[in-house]
Amino acid sequence: MKSPVSTYRLALVGFGSVGRGLAEILSLHRQRFIDRNDADIRIVAVCTRRWCVYEPNGIDAATLLRAVASDAVGALPGACAWSADQMIASADADVLVEASPTDMATGEPATTYIRAAIARGMHVITANKGPIALHFAELRRLAAERGVMLGFEATVMSGTPALRLGWSDLAGCDIQEVRGIVNGTTNFILTRMERGMDYASALAEAQRLGYAETDPTGDVEGYDAAGKAAILANVLMNAHLTPADVEREGITGITRDMVAAASAAGERWKLIARVWRDGPTVRAAVRPMRLMLRHPLAGVDGATNALTIITDLLGDVTIIGPGAGGVATGFAILSDLLTLQQGVRHVSF
Ligand SMILES: NC(=O)c1ccc[n+]([C@@H]2O[C@H](COP(=O)([O-])OP(=O)(O)OC[C@H]3O[C@@H](n4cnc5c(N)ncnc54)[C@H](OP(=O)(O)O)[C@@H]3O)[C@@H](O)[C@H]2O)c1
Repeated sequence: MKSPVSTYRLALVGFGSVGRGLAEILSLHRQRFIDRNDADIRIVAVCTRRWCVYEPNGIDAATLLRAVASDAVGALPGACAWSADQMIASADADVLVEASPTDMATGEPATTYIRAAIARGMHVITANKGPIALHFAELRRLAAERGVMLGFEATVMSGTPALRLGWSDLAGCDIQEVRGIVNGTTNFILTRMERGMDYASALAEAQRLGYAETDPTGDVEGYDAAGKAAILANVLMNAHLTPADVEREGITGITRDMVAAASAAGERWKLIARVWRDGPTVRAAVRPMRLMLRHPLAGVDGATNALTIITDLLGDVTIIGPGAGGVATGFAILSDLLTLQQGVRHVSF
């Protein structure tokens, strides 16, 4: 017998690469999720710093994408002057999709949006590392108290289900260590340097291709990877680390000569995020390491990410896949929604 279809009314904060990626998926495949997953997913409101649209019956995703591309959102029937706070308070949505920029120092304004949505009884799915790296324990407790879901699969390895693999599929294992390549920009630069480029040229190419931002500090100094290491520690190993607790060294000290010397020895430089148990405490570090070619992470090239989870019952499990991109990260949000649809609401240990 066919199950009843559940409706999910989404309010999006942020409509950049990730918000648009989710809208693209819905514009192409919304009917698939109704037919296969019994989930009728509708975007009812979207708010950025510059504009807001609200349509209680659902905004056509393709129409919205076209309007944004032609800078004509103001002409849409549902265009309104709400701020993100007003949208959360007034849109009567079931799910807040939080996709505003990451602030790894404060987690704001995203954390305030998330707290407000949970207080209203909304489920929350975020792509934003800041709130999860800094406030995971509090937000998980608030969500549990309200009986709503806190989804954050997108925050590490975008749509590649690395966090879910750990907290769901490997839930029966004791996770002893996690190590991985969780920043595609630095991996792209190191891969290019192996082909003879110096650091500055490799960074310039990463910027030209859109992998690195104009200010690349967050990536190349390891701050982004440190935030992800804190999330891995807290979600998969029940730790209470912040990004500042993660020992950190980026790739700016790696020279072409160092890369060539590693190649000559049959090794490759990789920026490795590592989380491990040290007696009763959990520690985390991000630093460049030379890996032998047979190491499972050594063959991961370009902007691809990979994570090895070391368990007591299953040994080492490695997952490799995209670590960024609008549609890949939109997919992570979709996968959290479908997890909600399956009735799995909380990360548990
Ligand atoms: N892109 C990826 O591959 C990826 C992967 C994993 C996680 N993430 C995370 O996902 C989040 C979104 O990333 P993105 O690439 O979509 O960023 P983006 O392209 O820079 O878009 C950010 C969006 O947030 C809006 N915004 C900015 N400040 C806001 C505020 N105070 N309140 C409400 N909206 C605000 C922006 O609107 P305006 O244009 O009006 O400023 C824009 O629509 C970030 O936290 C990022 O770290 C991204």
